Amino acid sequence: MVTRSDNLPAENVSRGGDGYHIPVLLKETIEGLNIQPSGTYVDCTFGGGGHSRAILEHLDENGVLVAFDQDADAAANLPNDPRIVFIPQNFRHIGRFLKLKNISGVHGILADLGVSSHQFNEPARGFSTRFDANLDMRMNSRQSKTAAEILNTYPEQRLHRMFEQFGEVTNSKTLARTIVAARTSSPFTTIAQFQQVLHSIVKGNPNK
Ligand SMILES: C[S@@+](CC[C@H](N)C(=O)[O-])C[C@H]1O[C@@H](n2cnc3c(N)ncnc32)[C@H](O)[C@@H]1O
Repeated sequence: MVTRSDNLPAENVSRGGDGYHIPVLLKETIEGLNIQPSGTYVDCTFGGGGHSRAILEHLDENGVLVAFDQDADAAANLPNDPRIVFIPQNFRHIGRFLKLKNISGVHGILADLGVSSHQFNEPARGFSTRFDANLDMRMNSRQSKTAAEILNTYPEQRLHRMFEQFGEVTNSKTLARTIVAARTSSPFTTIAQFQQVLHSIVKGNPNK
């Protein structure tokens, strides 16, 4: 089961007291998973743990929940529960890690894709245009490549393809050309600087 939290503007996402959001489509997600009490489930995107906690409520003492999150901050939200196995890694390695834990099959998998409210609301993470901060945008802070590095080093063609495929923009070619022209005189470091460069070519909501 896959849900999307990041298609909501950050300011529209309800948040729990811990800064993480209230999980989207919680009731529907739990219904859709059709949880067997002693089953094994995977939450690919643990985040604030809202979906995970609801899954745990439906498991008995033999149930198992394997939870992934590549953001080390997510570990702070782990419940003290022996049925949960937390794997602080990208869920693309799911097969390898399940094998490592001797799990040969699961009853359900959930992926709530996108950025968490916590990531949007921490200025230093560099995900939100509501703050000026370094252009970081790493979900996994153990990785070295930041958004600034990508903007400053990728060839124009590669930036064009990246924005075309993932950016949900219609002018990806102009965008890539503008970035490459701007960075020769002044490499990108901050969100404000990036916004200023894009100002003349961004169509629609400038804060998107
Ligand atoms: C929308 S939030 C999930 C919120 C969660 N369902 C809840 O109830 O609080 C998405 C989370 O998935 C993590 N994430 C995104 N892509 C990931 C990936 N490929 N591997 C592991 N974690 C990922 C992010 O770090 C973020 O914490």
